[in-house]
Amino acid sequence: MKILAINGSHRKGRNTAAMLQAVLEEAARLGAETELVELADYHIKPCQACNKCLAKPECSIKDDDMGALAEKMLAADGIVLGSPVYWANVTTYMKNFMDRTRWMHMVKNLLHGKVGGAVTHAGLRNGGQEFALEIMNRFLAAQGLYVVDTRDQEGGLYNSGAMGTMFESLADGKVSWKKGVHEDALAIEECRRLARNMVALIKRLKG
Ligand SMILES: Cc1cc2nc3c(=O)[nH]c(=O)nc-3n(C[C@H](O)[C@H](O)[C@H](O)COP(=O)(O)O)c2cc1C
Repeated sequence: MKILAINGSHRKGRNTAAMLQAVLEEAARLGAETELVELADYHIKPCQACNKCLAKPECSIKDDDMGALAEKMLAADGIVLGSPVYWANVTTYMKNFMDRTRWMHMVKNLLHGKVGGAVTHAGLRNGGQEFALEIMNRFLAAQGLYVVDTRDQEGGLYNSGAMGTMFESLADGKVSWKKGVHEDALAIEECRRLARNMVALIKRLKG
């Protein structure tokens, strides 16, 4: 079982990467082979809207790293997307990546039957995390993946994906911030739940 994590943060190895690592560590503990890809390391040109992928499941742009990334996606059983919130949205890197996967969807959903999930991190407590998760989950569903969330048999703590915040507390009108997502126990627990749900569904689908 292979699980691929794709980080859309413009900063490698920071909060979103740590959340994706938490997903992958839990998935690995349950037996998955895992890989984290940082979009910041990939040269991906913007979609040219040439519409050639409406006729053939192929992208007309060949001279960048999207082909290599597509191979990783096609080889994976599970794909987890991570993006920090930028303006209540996903990042430019994540959106650019999404656009360039259109050829995997228009003629046939080449990723159909895989399992997907999403994580996000933002500065503010209500900084747009739900919007960013919704955008990534809608993308995964449109691509034919089965999307998992953070539900658990024990109940409680349900979210449509894992979400973190830098917000810590407010005292005497002064806001204090976490040092990083490692101090956000809820976000890390949601990452682990997402991983458990992803692994369980992949196992069920594989029979
Ligand atoms: C261009 C830009 C826009 C941002 N917009 C928001 C926002 O709308 N809401 C929010 O809470 N945080 C916003 N942030 C803060 C990031 O979401 C936050 O710093 C996050 O932890 C970054 O994730 P990373 O550590 O993985 O890079 C923004 C940051 C940048 C650079």
